[in-house]
Amino acid sequence: MGRALSPRFLVAILAFLLVVFYLWPSNKDTPPVIKITKSSFDWSTVQPYHDPSPLTKPPSGVPRRLPRIQYPFPKSSKRFSDTAQAARRDAVKQTFQRNWKSYRKFAWMKDELTPLTAGSKNTFGGWAATLVDSLDTLWIMDLRTEFWEAVEAVAKIDWAVTNETSCNMFETTIRHLGGLLAAYELSGAAVLLEKAVELGDMLYAGFDTPNRMPAFWLDFRKAKNGDLLADSHVASASPGSLSLEFTRLSQITGDPKYYDATSRITELLYGSQNATKLPGMWPTFFNMRDSDLTEHSSFTLGALADSLYEYLPKMYALLGGLDRKYESMFLTAADTIKKHMLYRPMTQTNEDILFSGNVDVGWEVTLNPEGQHLGCFTGGMFALAGRLFDREDHVETGGKLARGCAWAYQAFPTGIMPEIFSMVHCETLAGCEWDENRWRREVSKDSQGFISLPKGFRNARDPSYILRPEAIESVFLLYRITGLEEYQMAAWDMFMAIEQATHTEYGNAAISSVTTTGVPIQRDSMESFWLAETLKYFYLIFSPPDLISLDDWVFNTEAHPLRIPKP
Ligand SMILES: *[C@@H]1O[C@H](CO)[C@@H](O)[C@H](O)[C@H]1NC(C)=O
Ligand SMILES: *[C@@H]1O[C@H](CO)[C@@H](O)[C@H](O)[C@H]1NC(C)=O
Repeated sequence: MGRALSPRFLVAILAFLLVVFYLWPSNKDTPPVIKITKSSFDWSTVQPYHDPSPLTKPPSGVPRRLPRIQYPFPKSSKRFSDTAQAARRDAVKQTFQRNWKSYRKFAWMKDELTPLTAGSKNTFGGWAATLVDSLDTLWIMDLRTEFWEAVEAVAKIDWAVTNETSCNMFETTIRHLGGLLAAYELSGAAVLLEKAVELGDMLYAGFDTPNRMPAFWLDFRKAKNGDLLADSHVASASPGSLSLEFTRLSQITGDPKYYDATSRITELLYGSQNATKLPGMWPTFFNMRDSDLTEHSSFTLGALADSLYEYLPKMYALLGGLDRKYESMFLTAADTIKKHMLYRPMTQTNEDILFSGNVDVGWEVTLNPEGQHLGCFTGGMFALAGRLFDREDHVETGGKLARGCAWAYQAFPTGIMPEIFSMVHCETLAGCEWDENRWRREVSKDSQGFISLPKGFRNARDPSYILRPEAIESVFLLYRITGLEEYQMAAWDMFMAIEQATHTEYGNAAISSVTTTGVPIQRDSMESFWLAETLKYFYLIFSPPDLISLDDWVFNTEAHPLRIPKP
């Protein structure tokens, strides 16, 4: 005869079941534990040659309640269950997956895939730029298997292994450090933060100069020997857009040294803003060696300066509104920009759109009505700042700038705007009537024939398109800020045009000219921002608006979302 189960045995079974219950993977987001392979050199052991103490800490206190950024989309709007948006989102995701499959197969751990020849190249030190830059896009597109596989690979990156003798402080900060921080914030994978700290400690060495201003190139040998100097002629965006990443690293780790490093640049920007040749703006080039930001006389929101301005309102948000210097700097700059830099092009339909040009200051202030794809971020910047600082006029300006870039896309036969072009502009922002003869006269002054140019354009000095994100970035931001469906429609046209012209068997490729009516000539190049930024913004504009809400996240200039502290 068997005997009844003893109570002790029952308790044991129960305990066993409880253990199984708790250990059972309850959802697919339970992160696998991935161990770091430490870099072979630890930069935190290099003591500064130029003592930064006392360190400035991030502002303390409870973050302010920031104004609402996103349009109050109705919770269960038909718009988002809409199969049309879902189909668009899937199309973007499919393009991303085609690219990712090729990167994984042909360029794994290399900086870039070459999209025509299915090869690879290292352009940023050989630390897997495309992989690090794409981590958060993988997460956002819900490609979790691919994400964790990528994290395994990132855990083994050795920042001390490179064929280069130096690295670009700006590019490595926005792509690698920004990419690691955003992926860490989204996934909570500790190893990503560990790699970010390793890299942050290396980049921190780039500030170890006599005046604590960063060098453009972090020369590893010089940094280890205390021989690093800041540059006497350097693009202003480079020192001007390190602040978000370094601030977030301090916020997350509690170590103020990273914040301290960039806050010195902020103080210099603040102190120089009204002393430049175009008060309110900073010139395109700085003399960082002498901490002199006032020497130069050319100004732009395009290449070389762009993200310096973008980071002002974004830093205000990331610091929870606790540092009003950023508000003051942005609003002062915005007045100067509106007065001297924005222009309205002469178009056949007198479109209410704006572009931002270049300004030279000599005996007088001269506007060169050039447009750059890089400058297309300004629409989003104005709109975001307009919401943050409660300035509806800036939101409106942002809309005109964003619609300007979308308009320039559809003006060209490929449906894509060129890298650099010039337009015939109206005397005032209020607009002007189309004058065919004036346009012909202006075009004939430039060497290029007007036959191949859409009406209103003077030239397309650089007619290429290299898969850049700035136009869709602004269109996306304006959509989330205003809720207007016209931005989603513009985005879909842009996406189809880009896919049509740049699609290759293995990925997407830069093209030589957007002005051709035939098949564009493709180049064997696909920079990491294509997967990090361009496709991310395309995906997000067709996604429900609470996916990376602008009220919770602020994007760095490489589209890596960083979390805004809340009260
Ligand atoms: C360094 O150069 C060698 C030879 O060209 C190459 O095989 C290797 O992949 C490079 N390493 C990195 C990290 O770029
Ligand atoms: C610069 O000038 C503007 C406009 O006159 C002013 O509002 C701002 O406070 C000034 N900035 C500094 C740092 O003095």
